[in-house]
Amino acid sequence: MRKLLYVFIVVLIFTNCKQEEATVPTGLVTEKAMVVSAREEASKIGTEIIKKGGNAFDAMVATELSLAVAYPFAGNLGGGGFMVYRKNNGEVGALDYREKAPLAAHKDMYLDSLGNVIPKMSTSGGTASGVPGTVAGVMAVHEKFGKLPLNDIMEPIIALAKKGVVVTKKQAKRLKGTRNRFIEVNGESTKFGQLFKEGDTIKYPELAKTLEIIMTEGKDGFYKGEVAQKLATYIQEHGGLITEEDMAKYEAKWRDPIVFDYKELKIISMSPPSSGGVTMNQIFKMMEPYDVAKFGHNSAQTVHLFTEASRRAYADRNYYLGDPDFVDIPYDMLLNDKYLKDRMSNFSFDKATLSSEVSHGDVQIYESMETTHYSIVDNEGNAVSATTTLNGGYGSKLYIEELGFFMNNEMDDFSSKPGVSNMFGLIGAEANSIAPEKRMLSSMSPTIVEKDDKLYMVVGTPGGSTIITAVAQTILDVYEFNLSMQDAVNAPRFHHQWLPDQIIFEPDGFSSDLIEGLKSKGYIINEKRTPIIGKVDAIRVLSNGHLEGGADKRGDDSAFGF
Ligand code: DON
Repeated sequence: MRKLLYVFIVVLIFTNCKQEEATVPTGLVTEKAMVVSAREEASKIGTEIIKKGGNAFDAMVATELSLAVAYPFAGNLGGGGFMVYRKNNGEVGALDYREKAPLAAHKDMYLDSLGNVIPKMSTSGGTASGVPGTVAGVMAVHEKFGKLPLNDIMEPIIALAKKGVVVTKKQAKRLKGTRNRFIEVNGESTKFGQLFKEGDTIKYPELAKTLEIIMTEGKDGFYKGEVAQKLATYIQEHGGLITEEDMAKYEAKWRDPIVFDYKELKIISMSPPSSGGVTMNQIFKMMEPYDVAKFGHNSAQTVHLFTEASRRAYADRNYYLGDPDFVDIPYDMLLNDKYLKDRMSNFSFDKATLSSEVSHGDVQIYESMETTHYSIVDNEGNAVSATTTLNGGYGSKLYIEELGFFMNNEMDDFSSKPGVSNMFGLIGAEANSIAPEKRMLSSMSPTIVEKDDKLYMVVGTPGGSTIITAVAQTILDVYEFNLSMQDAVNAPRFHHQWLPDQIIFEPDGFSSDLIEGLKSKGYIINEKRTPIIGKVDAIRVLSNGHLEGGADKRGDDSAFGF
């Protein structure tokens, strides 16, 4: 009898705990440390810094700045981002180095005299840029947690900028596709007015000089003096509002991340002004009552449940979220179990819920979507998850030749006018309206996951409004469906964001049976909206402590480590 009870208990434990070790790694496996990023050069430099005795935070500075050189499409000095960390003692935190609106910005700055949004004004050229945060971000990280001197970290990056970076096939295609826009914004004569092809080497002597100034003078080297003055002048010459005062006033901010449980996991993600953590918290909590593993990976039931949770979470996102220094966010309500249960009370597996009776026009998405994420684990067990962006590919396309970098078009992440969608089709509200020095709402979701109080996963992605759902699906793919880290990164993804009321699928990733089944329940399906959803770069910790990387084949992404 006792024996039977014992067997029963063992069976119960095994059926309730996920056995991820049954999952054979299919990505790069290393013993001690790993960096996964959008470019091999950046992953290598980040890893080398750890080998030299640096920690994950030193590697963060190295990877972020290497991406500014090797991946100007999204890596940047002229943009901003978010970072979530977990130290090996379990301490967690987050850094907000998001851009902010210039002092002269105002609510209606992108509206004409009739109150209509002026096309391109928030997406292209000097008018589109917010005050950049990246340099303040990496300097704050280095000051608080860095082990190595800044020179040791930055010298290899400056050397890379001088030596140059080889253009990949994907990059050549992007440069060619954007060349006319570069010329439109900057004239013929700048570096990117030229045509580059695969295999060419692009050297960045001006960027090397800017980096040298930052290396010697720290944060002030970028936000005060010669660099700030040149930046402000170039932007103002192109109609923008950023002044030297804006630059001098910029500070990165340490924030408490959003932390919540999902079944056996503890998920740590970015807090406002990113919507990532709150929205993911809502999605996961709405799904938690269900035995998702039983539904199957990307099955009709999984897509249906995930879509309905996302629809409700994005509706809240768009209405309630904004810069917490400017708006009161009702966290107690938004993250309350009863509230989230009530939100799902009209959910049924039989049919789609309608997003809204309110009609809306076709959403024009005329920018390629680019941002970049990197994940780091060091040999001491510290983890860093960071997402950084210029917003659109090459940001506003405004290239400050003398300083060697592109400026962001992050102002488009504000809501220019309530009810009018931005380039990601996101409809904003008052909480995300423009105000001087306010940070625009983001979807960037650098995330760290614990299981059994131990580090389990480091994950994030670009993809604009699709970031949140792509990160959530990657976590579910590993935890609920036992995919390896690399397989979870490779897996086809789908997305729903309340409005427009449609499920976006990556083309060719889902069976016609599944699509037809969803249509019959009332879903509008869009497989043409985007060829890819996200470029996830992630790390999973295996039970023996080794690390499995997931580098997204959708880009030139690469895992490196030792
Ligand atoms: O902060 C945001 O949500 C956007 N600016 C991110 C842009 C993005 O991911 C574009 N890339 N794919």
